[in-house]
Amino acid sequence: MTVRPDKHDPATLAFASQAVHAGNRIDEGTGAIRTPLVLANSYALPDDPSRIDWSGTEVPLYTRNSGANQIALQEKLAALEGGEDAVALATGVAALHAVFFTFLDSGDHIVVADVTYEATWRLFTELLPRKYGVEATFVDASDPAAVRAALRDNTRLVHVETIGNPTTKVTDIAAVAEIAHEAGALLSVDSTFTPPPLYRPLADGADLVVHSLTKYVNGHGDAMGGAVIGRREHIQRIRADAMVDVGGVISPFNAWLIGRGAITLPLRLRQHLDTARRLAELLDSDPRVAYVAYPGLASHPQHEVAARQFGGRGYGGVIAFAVDGDPEAQNRFVANLRVVTSAVSLGHDESLIVHVGTDGPRVAAYPEAFRRYGHLRFSVGLEDPDDLAADLSTALDATFGAA
Ligand SMILES: Cc1ncc(COP(=O)(O)O)c(C=O)c1O
Repeated sequence: MTVRPDKHDPATLAFASQAVHAGNRIDEGTGAIRTPLVLANSYALPDDPSRIDWSGTEVPLYTRNSGANQIALQEKLAALEGGEDAVALATGVAALHAVFFTFLDSGDHIVVADVTYEATWRLFTELLPRKYGVEATFVDASDPAAVRAALRDNTRLVHVETIGNPTTKVTDIAAVAEIAHEAGALLSVDSTFTPPPLYRPLADGADLVVHSLTKYVNGHGDAMGGAVIGRREHIQRIRADAMVDVGGVISPFNAWLIGRGAITLPLRLRQHLDTARRLAELLDSDPRVAYVAYPGLASHPQHEVAARQFGGRGYGGVIAFAVDGDPEAQNRFVANLRVVTSAVSLGHDESLIVHVGTDGPRVAAYPEAFRRYGHLRFSVGLEDPDDLAADLSTALDATFGAA
């Protein structure tokens, strides 16, 4: 029997319909058909509030515990990632910290991918070992055997990125989930580079999925947020331990903006993926480009894993590359761009590029070409693909003289 789609029951809906309807409800007070923006810090208490759990998160009470716009966003995110529950937080880093703070105690061990977002790397090279006595081992997470070899009796968590920031190294999530679970550890996956419907790590066995909502999920470059999605028992622990009593809660306005942005995620993502693939091929065919790291290229070391894992839907919207020259040449190339903006972040409507040099301890884990040339992290936006292709080509001409 076919399931009858019902906008009040996201489980009956296909992805694009979930993106529109999940988490939204008619406002009882006004009859507005969109969840309104509720900026209030506090919600009405029952007649006898004396037995309320002031750290509870079940009913809206105080916006650090819960609130109308957080609830709406969380419901949408849980539906989109195929998880039981979601917690929305102030930033992607707040969400990462919430996972680590909740599931690691002093003396516990974590296996972390050697290529991750900067803050994750710093949390485990410096802050969490020094402050809380957490032990971390960094591994090449694209090699499941290396993950297995790093596990210890006290390993509680394995943390990886589906596509690593910035090298675009791809982790086989199903393989690593199996290895983590054999050792009794949880797998948390930062899937910021691969939002749904491109990929859903929970379906491949991940326990916790983290997103910087600041990126593709909001998509418009105007609100910061983060989220963790997973089983209810895990998400409830994060809410209780890392949200209410640490305080990295998302603002109602940002939750509302991100919920609105997420409505068009499937449409936007399709465009990001198509254009990124085309531009990666364009750059790869240009002799003035030193290297291109993009999982959609057959030359990428994990191309086959990516093709299987992402089901041919695409390979992300971020390309790392360098032009064939010194750091000055990289800067000149960026300065010659007229459509792409030089700025950090990714997953915005607007194409963004950032030149990252070859210094610093993190770079030691990067491929040889990254260490030699540095890299340009290019987040492909929603501009017309022809404009972007022309921008890259004319900037290369201006940097090197016409090809
Ligand atoms: C993979 C990844 N995770 C987490 C973050 C942190 O997110 P936020 O800037 O929202 O704290 C970023 C930011 O660039 C990222 O690229």
